[in-house]
Amino acid sequence: MRALRKTHDGPGLELCEIPEPTPGFAEVKIRVLRTGLCGTDLHLLGWDDWARTQFTPPMTTGHEFYGEIVELGPGVPEGEGRDELKVGQRVSVEGHIVCGRCRNCRSGRRQMCIRSRGIGVNRDGAFADYVVVPHTNVWKQNDAIDPDLGALFDPFGNAVHTCQQVDMSGVDVLITGAGPIGVMATAIARHSGARYVVVTDLNDDRLAMAKNVGADRVVNVGKETLRDTMNELDIYEGFEVGIEMSGAPAALNMMVDHCNFGGTIAMLGLPKNEFAIDFSKVITHMLTIKGVYGREMFETWYRAAFMLQSSEAMRDAVRSVITHHYKAEDWQEAFDTAASGQAGKVLISWED
Ligand SMILES: NC(=O)c1ccc[n+]([C@@H]2O[C@H](COP(=O)([O-])OP(=O)(O)OC[C@H]3O[C@@H](n4cnc5c(N)ncnc54)[C@H](O)[C@@H]3O)[C@@H](O)[C@H]2O)c1
Ligand SMILES: [Zn+2]
Ligand SMILES: [Zn+2]
Repeated sequence: MRALRKTHDGPGLELCEIPEPTPGFAEVKIRVLRTGLCGTDLHLLGWDDWARTQFTPPMTTGHEFYGEIVELGPGVPEGEGRDELKVGQRVSVEGHIVCGRCRNCRSGRRQMCIRSRGIGVNRDGAFADYVVVPHTNVWKQNDAIDPDLGALFDPFGNAVHTCQQVDMSGVDVLITGAGPIGVMATAIARHSGARYVVVTDLNDDRLAMAKNVGADRVVNVGKETLRDTMNELDIYEGFEVGIEMSGAPAALNMMVDHCNFGGTIAMLGLPKNEFAIDFSKVITHMLTIKGVYGREMFETWYRAAFMLQSSEAMRDAVRSVITHHYKAEDWQEAFDTAASGQAGKVLISWED
């Protein structure tokens, strides 16, 4: 089969021919149909310090994907029932494999597992014709979810998980960063009944995507001030909710500056380095800042699936973050496009 692998300790990836994997105990084998590219994959290609500490070549990359079960290993609950699996079932997959033994796992907080391992980071991933994963990581999809939408459940789940931290109904929401995840969060804020949703970025094309999914105002913070927009909308006391989706220190600082007293900030964006914030403001304004990682297993998956099931507008909004499709053979072009910073979500198809 084809597999996009890092074959040696250094930058670059190779599309290789390797044997198909066999599902072990409690594992399923999945024929991969569609995959999504994210920042993690670009780090692995470029081989920065983070990648070097996480990834041991040779290994196959890729963790955002949708496909079809082709084989069940021993010990997998098989059948037609709601919580059973069968060959032919279409699925998306949670990319974190948890230990099941640590305190958080045993207490149902699996997203906080102390031994979490990543598909496509710590074991062979999904940029391949076939991948093998534990059956407990599989999320069954129905026909309403097409392969493109199915491949977005990982980043869409990041957006859902972040928005899960706050109550958005009837309040003003500030979202900083209009990358694919920020745009999906914008759609969720709209869907969740926010009064005003204001989105910031430095890139007008990305801001247009946020506007398209329901942002009331978009602000290019390189050219305009957020305060002017707040004045226009009569957001007098500040935002009750902040959703940080850029990883930029300036964005969090702006959020701290423009939140109402008692505001809550949920932060998914990963800063590259340590940075300073105005803690006296956090304290005197009684702000809550909450870090968010991955997806809650599996409450986030239920919420993500049910939001899409109940709303065609949500399905269209989530799909709208996809700007490029490539075939597996054109993976290098796909990575170049994703790295340009000008694209939305870049998908790679493994069909045919
Ligand atoms: N915590 C997690 O589990 C997790 C998972 C996935 C992604 N992430 C992080 O979430 C963030 C969003 O992911 P994405 O794929 O949409 O990223 P992305 O890099 O595509 O988007 C980030 C956006 O932020 C914008 N930006 C930069 N500086 C800004 C500023 N000062 N103000 C406002 N916007 C600014 C950029 O122009 C870009 O459009 C990234 O930081 C990513 O690393 C975290
Ligand atoms: Zn990812
Ligand atoms: Zn654990």
